[in-house]
Amino acid sequence: MTTQRLITSMIRRRAPTNSSQNRDNYALKGIIEAVQKGPRNLDDTKVDYTKVDQFHIGGHLTTTKFLSWLPTKPDSTILDIGCGLGGPARMLASPPYACSRVVGIDTSSEFVDAARWISREVGMSGNPSFALGSGEDMAAFEDASFDGCYMIHVGMNVGDMGRVAGEMARVVKGGGWAGLFDVVRLKEGEIKYPVPWTGPSGEGCHLKYWSEYSEAFSAHGWTLRDSEDLTASSLNMIRKAVGRGGGKDWGPEVFMGEDADVKQRNLMEGLEEGVLGVFMGKWEKG
Ligand SMILES: C[S@@+](CC[C@H](N)C(=O)[O-])C[C@H]1O[C@@H](n2cnc3c(N)ncnc32)[C@H](O)[C@@H]1O
Repeated sequence: MTTQRLITSMIRRRAPTNSSQNRDNYALKGIIEAVQKGPRNLDDTKVDYTKVDQFHIGGHLTTTKFLSWLPTKPDSTILDIGCGLGGPARMLASPPYACSRVVGIDTSSEFVDAARWISREVGMSGNPSFALGSGEDMAAFEDASFDGCYMIHVGMNVGDMGRVAGEMARVVKGGGWAGLFDVVRLKEGEIKYPVPWTGPSGEGCHLKYWSEYSEAFSAHGWTLRDSEDLTASSLNMIRKAVGRGGGKDWGPEVFMGEDADVKQRNLMEGLEEGVLGVFMGKWEKG
């Protein structure tokens, strides 16, 4: 199946499992308009979308760390599950990674539309490509159709991680890899809501212990190759980000809504109190 046919078939599918919950959780209404209002670079000819196309702790900087740590190669075909506005996927399709085929899927059509729009604006319409899709059900993709896959800050919204790890194992080739970069629970304790991945009262929150991710992956034939605790550096980054905002129309408010600052403060408190942590891990299939 060609990439275009594959994407068309995914779009025709019903909106996947928890998409309506995700829609409620994220500030998606008018996201393209919010992105379009962005400030311009000094030469006033080019908008710097990298300021808003990364929806995770540390933005562009941590994406670079994570992508460089994954075993990508220029001829790799890679699936980004929960691609958001597509910043990490566009980075992966560009030098120095220059992966030949990157596909991003997301349960939110608003994010998919915005990811495509930004890609067109920056002249990257062909690769990466974006489609509506859920990590729990990737039936639109054939078995063993990717060299690797990853999720960045998506696991906190995933109710059934076993299903996602199983789907990852199905669509990735033998010897291929899976990467994860997520906020995790470190101990029992109160979390103040909202946080960046939930609604006002914690709707859609499926925070997990790192051990739950490990168990889900190993149950589906994945072998952990490496992991890193990024909690301390993430806390530093959140401390710098809190209160800074991005200006009226351009900053975390674009994808987190008007309460972006409250969400970030609550995340910061969770990290400070040791209830929340940030981990990345990579697994090999087989
Ligand atoms: C915090 S954003 C991260 C976006 C992107 N990975 C990034 O780092 O810029 C989480 C994204 O995951 C999507 N999402 C949540 N649950 C999902 C699932 N089960 N399958 C696919 N996407 C999902 C949301 O719609 C949202 O776009």
